[in-house]
Amino acid sequence: MSILHTSGQKKTQQERFEKIRTHILPDSTQACTQLAAEVADLIRSRQAEGRPVVLGLATGSTPVPFYRELIRLHQTEGLSFSNVTTFNLDEYYGLDRDHPESYHRFMRDQLFDHIDIPDHQINIPDGTVPIDAVYDSCMAYESRIQAAGGIDLQILGIGRTGHIGFNEPGSSRDSVTRMITLDRVTRQDAAADFLGVQNVPRSAITMGVGTILGARQIVLMAWGDNKAEIVRTAVEGVQTDQVSASFLQSHPQSTFLIDTAAASSLTRRHQPWLVGSVPWDDVMAKRAIAWVAQKLRKPILKLIDEEYNENGLAELLISTGRSYQLNIRVFNHLQRTITGWPGGKPDADDTHRPERAHPYPKTVLVLSPEPQDAFLGMGGTLERLVSQGHHVLLVCQTSGNLRVADVAAQKFASVLLEMAEAQEDSGWKDKLHYAQFILNEIEAKGQFGSDPEMVRKLKGLILRGEARDAAKEVGIPAQNLQFLDMPFYEKGRYRRFHLEETDILHIQTLLEKFHPHQIYATGHVADPSSVQGLCFQAFEAARKASATSSWCEDCRIWLYRGREKPMECHEIDMAVPMSPDQLDQKFEAMRKFQSTNEDEHSFISQNKGNANAYDALGMAEYEGIETFQRMP
Ligand code: F6R
Repeated sequence: MSILHTSGQKKTQQERFEKIRTHILPDSTQACTQLAAEVADLIRSRQAEGRPVVLGLATGSTPVPFYRELIRLHQTEGLSFSNVTTFNLDEYYGLDRDHPESYHRFMRDQLFDHIDIPDHQINIPDGTVPIDAVYDSCMAYESRIQAAGGIDLQILGIGRTGHIGFNEPGSSRDSVTRMITLDRVTRQDAAADFLGVQNVPRSAITMGVGTILGARQIVLMAWGDNKAEIVRTAVEGVQTDQVSASFLQSHPQSTFLIDTAAASSLTRRHQPWLVGSVPWDDVMAKRAIAWVAQKLRKPILKLIDEEYNENGLAELLISTGRSYQLNIRVFNHLQRTITGWPGGKPDADDTHRPERAHPYPKTVLVLSPEPQDAFLGMGGTLERLVSQGHHVLLVCQTSGNLRVADVAAQKFASVLLEMAEAQEDSGWKDKLHYAQFILNEIEAKGQFGSDPEMVRKLKGLILRGEARDAAKEVGIPAQNLQFLDMPFYEKGRYRRFHLEETDILHIQTLLEKFHPHQIYATGHVADPSSVQGLCFQAFEAARKASATSSWCEDCRIWLYRGREKPMECHEIDMAVPMSPDQLDQKFEAMRKFQSTNEDEHSFISQNKGNANAYDALGMAEYEGIETFQRMP
């Protein structure tokens, strides 16, 4: 189905809650390949007519695969951008054009430097004009859009606040290009890029909602589970200035292009029984009943026939019998996900347990994209696995050095410098030079400059030390902690990483060396260009490459979540409960990561949230729960 030519397309019954046309593709690569091909057709057909094309462009992680595909089309298929004029949505206020995080720089790095678009056809709001000239500069931007004949196709991402451009909650439908204050959530989402939320600019210049709606056609892209809720609100909710993307409902030619994870909260995916017939297997029944129970705030065992009927589950009731039997079936199902034995309970009947009893002990491989991830996603489970006698190998896939603040490296180098200066012994000369070198490099690069190799290395070492301390807290000895330092990370920067064959080989070698019985991995529903998303893609590719190895047959893969949206009850195949003491211990492990700006509290509250959700469904009440999904 075409993304850009939507006029003849009718809404299906499945889409009846959706007020904006929404295309769901399996992943961002497929979506971007199709969109880029259609945009290329548009550019070429205009070229044939001797006419220009005006594109509105976005920055951030979302459009990166789209830009890469455009570059590929230019480099390998000769697509020319000579007739293309672009207008970018926004720019941080106060950042120099060459600042590594400015959108001017981003667009050059991600697109403009690699295609043949003439410089004078590129337009990006100016974040450097003095404050009293901002208004005129914004009005001039609007005029330039008009003078170019308006925008033919506007590309958008969506922020977790529902913003398009930087139109934060409160932006009116008619707003035009102007200066705005960034929302707290938006600044938090940019914190990793800026090495801490305190460094993220407080304001920005953005095209208005009205400017965006002036485009003849609009495509909003979204990837990953973290966008699922806001996508649903924008597509199915009411139009409101609290979610500026919801105003796209009023544009006749606007389309959402999203991946499966970002679509997961839409009614057609989340409650499919409300939009058509579904196969009522165990999984679907569990999902529907957990949903009704949560909606009515009732424990599962107290649901009655009428409540099934009133909530669109009459068909389920007819096909299965009375609510009484159904309730018990689903209750048992959920109950059996709970286990204090994530590695399997040796010598116990494992018919209904999430993990098999044998072999025991198991070789368990835990993959942590950045060193903190495994602790925040499954710190309690790590402790259980170790204390229950399994051979646990924790592998940090990347060094995580980009998360380490300059001040941590400066602190280390300053102490070393002082020590070296105090020594008469000439053997300390090298250390003195090293410390001075690090301090000079940090000073020279400035607050936001890219870290030179030596500084990144030092930051990585600092994080390694913290990871060792955290591992010790959950019982993992230093020799069972490995650091892969995957090359894509060491060479890249947030939002600009490229996965390479060597990254996959690193993981494949690991799998072939350890022949694990259990693997814990994360990143399956993350933004595909995030560190977690890329680490998962590398794992997937490595696993596929090893698929014929005999150890694979006896290996179960468990998916955990750290930074992404918590799992919903129906997604959980294993729930590992935690006592107050165990939760404290996890908190202590997380606190070892002092050089980063990790917020330990929010992850602990996720564990509590999981426990509360189980409790509300009528399960046993725990202090916290860590959740896992079994990979098919
Ligand atoms: C960027 C922009 C923003 C982003 C949004 C999503 O120019 O206008 O609206 O599209 O914040 O950001 P990512 O793609 O990084 O999730």
